[in-house]
This record gives sequence, structure tokens and C-alpha cells, in this order.
Amino acid sequence: MDARAPDVVIIGAGAAGLMCALTAAKRGRQVLLLEHANKAGKKILMSGGGRCNFTNMYTEPENFSSQNPHFCKSALARYTPWDFIAMVSEHGIAYHEKKLGQLFCDEKSKAIRDMLLAECERAGVELHLSTAVQQIDRTEAGYLLSTDIGPVASPSVVIATGGLSIPTLGATGFGYEIARQFGHTVLPTRAGLVPFIITDQLKDLCTELSGTSADAVASCNGESFRENILFTHRGLSGPAILQISSFWQLGDAVTINLLPDHDALEWLQAQQAARPNSELKTVLAEVFTKKMAGLLADRWFVSKPMKRYTAAELRDIADTLGAWQVVPAGTEGYRTAEVTLGGVDTRDVSSKTMESLKSPGLYFIGEVLDVTGHLGGFNFQWAWASGHAAAQYV
Ligand code: FDA
Repeated sequence: MDARAPDVVIIGAGAAGLMCALTAAKRGRQVLLLEHANKAGKKILMSGGGRCNFTNMYTEPENFSSQNPHFCKSALARYTPWDFIAMVSEHGIAYHEKKLGQLFCDEKSKAIRDMLLAECERAGVELHLSTAVQQIDRTEAGYLLSTDIGPVASPSVVIATGGLSIPTLGATGFGYEIARQFGHTVLPTRAGLVPFIITDQLKDLCTELSGTSADAVASCNGESFRENILFTHRGLSGPAILQISSFWQLGDAVTINLLPDHDALEWLQAQQAARPNSELKTVLAEVFTKKMAGLLADRWFVSKPMKRYTAAELRDIADTLGAWQVVPAGTEGYRTAEVTLGGVDTRDVSSKTMESLKSPGLYFIGEVLDVTGHLGGFNFQWAWASGHAAAQYV
């Protein structure tokens, strides 16, 4: 059978692969896009609670973790949130800023996925769903792929297979295998932006407060995030927890400041002076839900009128509320993680072109690389920017 011979073959029709395909095709390249799942962009459909947090207006290189922190700068500077917003606006997709620069669709995430598919179609991308790639070999002219649609020969192969999170949405380790095959280092991977599991004596509290959230600052290993934490049946979640999970390693304690607007001790002393006859649980209900205030006051301390606390007792309460120490037993893992930390070492990839420095004509884009964004639209912005960068050179 004669091999198909497109200018470029892209493996993975997720966020990065779709962006790379439509951009390369607009440049006049003949693009073959292969996706092993039965739908393109499944994570886009699931994202942002169904409304796709498609970018963040305040994207900066500091919003990304990598062993090579400078790597993301060039691509991010050449394709900004405003470039993506322009495409979204052109397609008449309504959106809003939820908070902190996070842009969400007013309606469903599907609008973003369909926009990318429409752009691919208009530019002439040949997309094949339910198509697996079995093998990739180097040839004199480039690469020869064995696929479900037969052999494919191309001078440019783009690996856009994403990370390991949520296997039910099509995630595989294929990109890492190909990277290793062509001499790349794959840095250890682990689940990021993921809820914590608590199994120690705090488990009961988490279960009882399941569904309750509180404004807090979560800190670990020199990083801090202020957002909500959410108690769950299994432990802790919510944006502040998801953010800090990317910096947490097994055995680490996470410090949670439950009174982020106050110096805990000064606030308690002021409450003691102002309302000496009020019980601690009543005072705590000023800042937490009534249920949470009651449970904390009864479980962690003995709730009594404020005037009956000694200075030392008040200091203990302040220490606990201002710097609650939680040692998670683990995370919920790839089953629910939004991203995969680690991946293809970017030190062997060109930050300008996303091309392998080990094997010319091979490109890596999106989450398969060791570039992981914070929560809030940064991971999609990386997918768009890296896909766009590679598309200029394939
Ligand atoms: P992505 O995972 O999108 O695509 C990879 C594609 O490759 C998939 O279609 C997969 O099926 C395919 N593939 C894998 N192996 C293959 C193989 N062997 N052959 C062929 N195809 C293969 N980010 C954000 O910025 N805002 C948000 O709101 C959210 N929300 C969110 C919710 C949930 C539930 C998850 C799991 C993740 C998010 N994210 C997010 C993260 C974001 O979805 C993610 O970072 C990007 O989709 C990464 O884009 P990629 O194209 O690199 O991988």
C-alpha cells in the first residue's frame, strides 16, 4: 500500500493538536490529524465545569511550573490570550471573566471545541478519529508511521498526546514512549491540580463538612494560593487545594490559614475584648459557616465564652486557625487530576519551534511537555501557544 504523505502529521486532536493543525493548515501545509478517541477535544468538553476556562488574561511565565522555567516564555509571548480571545470573538462565542482573569464561556465548552474543529475544516485539515498509531520509525526523508488508516510518511510529526490525567478521556503515555524512543528524557510524572485524600483523624471532620467551602491560604514548599478550600467526603478540594497540590509531595504538610484577612491572634484578642460573653463558636460563625464554626469550636477547642480563654489558650486557637497543618495521605491521582506534572524534558526541545533537538522533524506540544500551568485557564493557553509555535515550522 502506498503511504499517505502529508506535509505534517499531528498525533492527538486535543487542545494543542487542534490549534497546531488549524494554524499549520492556514499556512498552506497539508495536515493529517490522528486521534485515537472517538471524539476530538474531549478534555475541552469537560473543562471548566462544562464552560471551559479557555484562557487567563493575566498569563505570565510565572504561572507555569517546569524544570526549565524559561522554556515557555517564547511561545507564550508569540501567541497571547488576546490572540485566542480574537478567535473566540470572531466566532461570536460569548464569554465572561469569572475572577482573577479567568475567561469562561457563557454557554457550553462545546462552543470552543466546535470553533477549533470548524477552523480545522475551513483550513482543510484531514482529521481521523478512532485512529491509533502503532509505531513511528525514522526514515531518510522523515518519519514513517504505522496507523489504523495505513502507513503515513511525513517529514514532520507532532506529538500532541497530552498527559496521563483522566484515562477515560483518552489519556495515554504514548507521547512519553515516542519521546524515549527518539532519545528524550521524560521527567517523572505525577498528578497535579488534584484533590487531597485525608485518612487521619481529620477525615471525620472533612466528611461531616463535605460540601462546605472557606476562603483560605494554602501553602506548601514555598508556594501559597489564596482561594476557596472545599471539604469533601474523601478529604480536601477547591481551587486553593488544587493549586497547592501541584507543589506537594507525599509526606509534606500543607499549611492552611483559615483567617486570611486577619492576624489570627490579634483578631481573637479583639473579639475577646469586644464581646467577652460570646461563645467561640458564635465568634467563628462571623467568618465560617455556622456548621463549620460549630464543628471547629467543639472538635478542636472547647467552645466557651471568650472571656474564659486564657492568653495561652487564645494563642493555641490562633495558631491552629492561622496555620492549620494538614498531612494528606495522598491525592485522588490521575483519575480526577486536571493535569500531569513532569513529562518530556524541555531542555531537549527548541523553545522557538517546539522541535526535538534530538530528532529533527519531531515536535512536542501541549501537556506532554514538562510545562504545567496553575489553575485558571493557563493550561489551555499553553496548549494554544505551543501548538501555534510549532505550526509555524512544521
Ligand atoms: P489533551 O489531553 O487536550 O489532548 C490530547 C489528545 O491526544 C486527546 O484527544 C487524546 O485522546 C489524544 N491521544 C492520546 N494518546 C493518543 C494516541 N496514542 N494516539 C492518538 N491520540 C492520542 N485547563 C484550562 O486551562 N482550563 C480549564 O478549564 C481546564 N479544565 C479541565 C478540566 C478537566 C476535567 C481536565 C482533565 C483538565 C482541564 N484542564 C483545563 C487542563 C487541560 O484540559 C489540558 O491541560 C489540555 O487539554 C492539554 O492539552 P493537550 O492538547 O496537550 O492534551
